[in-house]
Order: sequence, then C-alpha cells, then structure tokens
Amino acid sequence: MKQNKYDDPTFFTEYAKMPRSIDGLAASGEWQALRETLPDFRGKRVLDLGCGYGWHCQFAYEHGASEVVGIDISAKMIERAIELTHAGNVRYEQTAIEDFEAAPGSFDIILSSLALHYVRDLGPVFAKAAELLASGGTFCYSVEHPLFTSREQQDWSYDADGQIAHWPVDNYFHEGQRTTAFLGADVVKYHRTVESHFKALLAAGFSVESLVEPAPPMEMVKEKGWEDELRRPMMLILRAVKA
Ligand SMILES: C[S@@+](CC[C@H](N)C(=O)[O-])C[C@H]1O[C@@H](n2cnc3c(N)ncnc32)[C@H](O)[C@@H]1O
Repeated sequence: MKQNKYDDPTFFTEYAKMPRSIDGLAASGEWQALRETLPDFRGKRVLDLGCGYGWHCQFAYEHGASEVVGIDISAKMIERAIELTHAGNVRYEQTAIEDFEAAPGSFDIILSSLALHYVRDLGPVFAKAAELLASGGTFCYSVEHPLFTSREQQDWSYDADGQIAHWPVDNYFHEGQRTTAFLGADVVKYHRTVESHFKALLAAGFSVESLVEPAPPMEMVKEKGWEDELRRPMMLILRAVKA
C-alpha cells in the first residue's frame, strides 16, 4: 500500500518547520550538488515526481522550462506548492508516482528529489519514466543514501559519554521496507543498494551518466555546525539518459 504520510496533519506541521520547508532549496544540503547534476531546462518539458512544495518545479520554470508538471501523493503538499508557485506554466497534480499517466514522450526531463525511497518497487516506475521521456531525455533523482537507509534506526552509534562513535551500517544487502522514525512519526521507506539503483536504471533502458554522493558545501557545514555530515553520505544522486 502507498503511504501518504505528508497528509497527516501533525507530520505536515512538523515538516513545515524544517529549514528546507522555510527557506527552500538554499537550505538543502544536497541542493548545490543536485543543481550541478541537473540538465539545462531551457525550452524543456519537465516532470517532477514527488514535488512536495514545488521548489524544483519553480527552479525549472525560472530556468527556462517551457512546461512543468509536479505530482505528489499528498493533497496538502500540492496545496502548498500551488500557494508558493507564481508561474503560469507550472501545473500540479495530486497523484502517486506509481499511478501517474501521460502520453509516451511527453517530457524531456524527469526529476525527483527525495521521494523515490518511499516507492516500494522502482522497476515499473523507471520503466514508466523511460516511456514518458522523449528520446535523449534525462532522468535525474536524489534519494536517501543506501548507507543511510540500511538500518531502521537511521541514527549514529554513541559512546559511553554520549558522543558520536560512528554511523552503523547493517543488513545492507537485505533490501526492502524500513519503518523509521522521522519528525516524531513512524515513516515507511524502502532500502535498496547502490547497485540496485544502477541496475534498475539500466534495465529500464537508461544509460547512467552520473552518480553523486553529495556532502553539504563547506560554507553550510561551518555556518550550521554540520561537521558530522562529513562522516557519512546521506544522499545519493543519479542522472541517466534515455538511450
Ligand atoms: C521529502 S519530501 C520531498 C519534496 C520535494 N521533492 C523536495 O525535495 O522538496 C517527499 C515528498 O514525496 C511525496 N511522496 C511520497 N511518496 C509518494 C508517492 N508514492 N507518490 C507521490 N509522491 C510521494 C511526499 O508526499 C512528499 O511531498
């Protein structure tokens, strides 16, 4: 069953307090790396899977996309995206990534930021992405890094003094559901290995162009005291092209 956690009023309220919800892309540690991985939007038709507040849709519009569609399973997130977006050529639709339908070849760029780890089965979604893209189109997405999602606890190991000892990784090759604690709630995510991401893209007919393990920029690390973010990867970014 697809989870729609962001429509839970308490979860939605807590998510709204996160820096990335208040200040947008500039407050996201992986944004600089994702931005460098994204293709040129000028004149392109763009689809954003799991668009949330629509920050990436707005970015695509502001950088010349001819048409942008953002989809999300959450009515509240779509409502917020509509409030925040002031651009005629951005359209939002409440639908699950797994259920979205459009004509083959409708898009030149499909992007997704931190949503695909909520999807149980990537195979059909990647096959659909390949179908929806025009030939030569780009698929670019970020997910929580598999070293981050391997354990349900998604937390550091601490020493006897309560200081961080290390980031534990376990059951890495045991892919599948993880029920994690996020913003005070139980949230279901799906762990898969780096190799599985790579192979799922190839199986759908994509050529992988880029794989990035972003660390936050040093200015952000210093400003926000994020030194521990340099101890393990939290995000994984992949860019692929429809052959
Ligand atoms: C962490 S937020 C990221 C939002 C946005 N992409 C961003 O980076 O700011 C994850 C989003 O994915 C959406 N989502 C989760 N599972 C989904 C699914 N199966 N289909 C569509 N959207 C989904 C959530 O509702 C939420 O808006």
